[in-house]
Amino acid sequence: MYKIELSNSGDIATLIADDQSTVRYHALWLRDNAQDEHTRAPNNGQRLIALQDIPSDVSIARAEVVGDTLMVLFKPENKHVEYDIQWLLNHRYDTSFSQSVGWTSAAVETWDSHLSQALPTADFETIKENKIALLKWLSNVRQFGFAKLTDGPIEPEALFQVVNLFGHVRQTNYGRHFEVRTEVNPSNLAYTGLGLQAHTDNPYRDPVPTLQILYCLENSASGGENMVVDGFKVAQRLRDENPEWFTVLSKYCAKFEYAGETGVCLRSRKPMIELAPDGELVAVRFNNRSTAAITDVPFDDMVCYYDAYRRFGEIIDDPGMEVSFKLSPGDSFIVDNTRVLHARKGYSGEGKRWLQGCYADKDGLYSKLEALDSVSAEAASP
Ligand code: FE2
Repeated sequence: MYKIELSNSGDIATLIADDQSTVRYHALWLRDNAQDEHTRAPNNGQRLIALQDIPSDVSIARAEVVGDTLMVLFKPENKHVEYDIQWLLNHRYDTSFSQSVGWTSAAVETWDSHLSQALPTADFETIKENKIALLKWLSNVRQFGFAKLTDGPIEPEALFQVVNLFGHVRQTNYGRHFEVRTEVNPSNLAYTGLGLQAHTDNPYRDPVPTLQILYCLENSASGGENMVVDGFKVAQRLRDENPEWFTVLSKYCAKFEYAGETGVCLRSRKPMIELAPDGELVAVRFNNRSTAAITDVPFDDMVCYYDAYRRFGEIIDDPGMEVSFKLSPGDSFIVDNTRVLHARKGYSGEGKRWLQGCYADKDGLYSKLEALDSVSAEAASP
């Protein structure tokens, strides 16, 4: 049970629990977040009023708790609004905020090579048929920024069936998808396919594609494993080793560019470590091949910047940070391209390696995840 207490001027309401713990709300916030049919459209929940429609001197004339409901009378509108107390508690903002810079949300779990022991993986046919299994796989993508899928169809463009599970393809100048195809020269067995350093894709785009899917159709060469690294873990390690280095990579913009084909000149100016204004890790960008001349670092900080950039790359290359796996035909994996770096290891011997890749975006995936989550929560409730 809760009680409500008002400040003298009625500008603050305090919910008091039985154990005397309190949660405060401003009258203006409460009025702005009224859920009545004149403030929010009943069919889609969209707000029907602008802030200017609420008097700037809004205050609470009277408030009482009846069961699970808080009843409030606002003045000068003389407007009565009811709130579900659980909704208020779920939306509390009267909390102490003491996260260190580079924090991640509770839904995110950072990882290193130990994740190899329990790769987030699902069977393609299972998640296609079973919404709970799909929900779990999508949750894995949110949690780890990476997940594998096994035993999908072995046919060109099957990767679109993966995207169809949760969202839409992001088409780029490379098309709806791109080919990653290598034939190891059988007449020169000494030939070693070059590995690629772990990177995020297309940092020269703004906005960057936030998801990448790589789908294996053929993989008979020896070696050629795929490898992923958690860029958030790398950034946090850099922060813990040397806060100044973390700061320069997040404070100053790098530059990225791709102008490798006629009529295309893609450029972006973004930091290698991107933070939200409150210090949350938002994105990591790292791609040697498309880093342009960096000119937006003050002269006096450039040496420090390069030290930080070098160390960032060293941590990325540390085998203790990587998770490797070999894809069989029909297998695929998805990465959060704003967080997880990917790479191909070197390969040798005879054989072919054929992958198809495409981009998609996280908003669609998270939307599907939230929608499935609310349906399964409803189904689970008595
Ligand atoms: Fe790539």
